[in-house]
Amino acid sequence: MDYETLVASVTGLLLGEPDIIANAANFAAFVYHELPELNWAGFYFPNAAGDLVLGPFNGRPACTRLPRGRGVCGAAFTQRRTLVVDDVHAFGDHIVCDSASASEIVVPLERNGEVFGVFDVDSPRVARFSDADRHGIERLVTAFVGAVGTSAVPRPV
Ligand code: SME
Repeated sequence: MDYETLVASVTGLLLGEPDIIANAANFAAFVYHELPELNWAGFYFPNAAGDLVLGPFNGRPACTRLPRGRGVCGAAFTQRRTLVVDDVHAFGDHIVCDSASASEIVVPLERNGEVFGVFDVDSPRVARFSDADRHGIERLVTAFVGAVGTSAVPRPV
């Protein structure tokens, strides 16, 4: 996968748009359509209680709320690090939103030392995400966070 080109493309796609919801929507659509073998790509943002609430995504309708610290998303958010799960059925605390999902990567969104959400990508293939994919998807997310600039981040209820 040519992540170098994808990072350049997505940076151009988001350029000049300060609205985070608009950019999150286009970013999710971009990733979903540009990377092969995905069944879901999208965002979760924390509310005041620390639960993760569904944001813009592409794929089938998903769980709207993930309880604080739960699931792969909650673990990545709490631990402030990317998590790659090769086989979601072997991950004890995985939360099933789409039964087609077999592997998953979750990247925290970090700005000014604060984690303000996660970007979650699911695949129907076991072990879909290699180290190169992890690095590439982290670079794509860095481009997204860079485009957020100084605009307010979502604070769902
Ligand atoms: N599987 C995730 C829940 C979100 S869906 O995959 C869209 C998790 O365990 O956190």
